[in-house]
Amino acid sequence: MKKTIRDFNLENKKVIIRVDFNVPMKDGIISDDTRIIGALPTIRYALEKNAKVILMSHLGRIKTEEDKKNNTLRPVSLKLSELLGKEVIFVPETRGKLLEEVVSKLNPGEIILMENTRYEDLNGKLESSNDEALGKYWASLGDIFINDAFGTSHRAHASNVGIASYIPSGIGFLIEKELLSFDKVLYHPDRPFTVILGGAKVSDKIGVIENLIEKVDYIIIGGAMAYTFLKAENLPIGHSIFDTENYEFAKKMLNQYKDKIILPVDHIVKDKDEKIMSKRVEDTAEEDIGFDIGNETIQKFKDILKISKTVLWNGPVGMFEDENFAKGTFELMKFLEKEGDTVILGGGDTASAASKFHMSFTHISTGGGASLELLEGKILPGVDCINEKI
Ligand code: 3PG
Repeated sequence: MKKTIRDFNLENKKVIIRVDFNVPMKDGIISDDTRIIGALPTIRYALEKNAKVILMSHLGRIKTEEDKKNNTLRPVSLKLSELLGKEVIFVPETRGKLLEEVVSKLNPGEIILMENTRYEDLNGKLESSNDEALGKYWASLGDIFINDAFGTSHRAHASNVGIASYIPSGIGFLIEKELLSFDKVLYHPDRPFTVILGGAKVSDKIGVIENLIEKVDYIIIGGAMAYTFLKAENLPIGHSIFDTENYEFAKKMLNQYKDKIILPVDHIVKDKDEKIMSKRVEDTAEEDIGFDIGNETIQKFKDILKISKTVLWNGPVGMFEDENFAKGTFELMKFLEKEGDTVILGGGDTASAASKFHMSFTHISTGGGASLELLEGKILPGVDCINEKI
């Protein structure tokens, strides 16, 4: 078992909390603050315990000076300050005198947010390659390290694995909640246990299918990735997205697990004249492109979901960003919100759909890549590096 923030006396200690504030932002405006809200319980707890809080996060990917301008964490510090109802001191540096001075002058119950850790990637990818000296330097700023950046825990970077190598460490409440939620469904699901997989690429989900196929009762496949499976069933898919490389994989899965894999029977297509219509899959014309599941499929999927006690969903079943193709994802979400028992959502697009439709579930993961890697059965380095409880 990993140590958690509860296992430390935080009073008067400099506590570095690695959060994932990699939020969608345009022109300095945050369009979804779910990840900031997700980190609040840990931050509030540390402040209540009179810690001197030093927050670190990355934002976007930094390859040029221009990227730095577009990915400063300053707007995030303002949003955080608003959410906490308290001043958050923003330090526009990732190292140096100013940062060290601000840290040394911090009083218990005060909080700073350091500039984007990936600014350190500009000269030699120091953050992303887990540069030893950088991890050591950041660790020297604090007494205790708490990792609460679940969304980044599949990365071994200086701001998580690096810092944890040098000072005592624990996980925060967000990572704890994410791990408990996934652990429950992956290892002790109430049955029937159904997984819904969607999104564009089969390749993104191969590891998940391989890891889960023996554990689940059903895998419902929607989204563009369904077309590779439909073609493997000798059905026409027109010009819908087809993943040649993973065709044999889809065929093999269908041969071995025919009763577990549930595929669409109808879909919403755009025809050669860009007209949008519903068709049965077997009636798909040469130039049709599919973008969402149809009504019959929605009902077919609901029938499985109705008898399921645990549902894990990764990847929307249609191109929900376009309202012409949002119905499949919306209807299944609406059904699960009302009728579902344990429903866990993972993956950035699935979480965005839930947020767009204002739906709530047992757990909506804040991790995209991290939740996928957990579902693939991989070890997350950002969690693995944390001290064990003795
Ligand atoms: C994410 O959004 O998945 C995490 O913040 C990790 O970001 P990255 O893919 O840029 O490492």
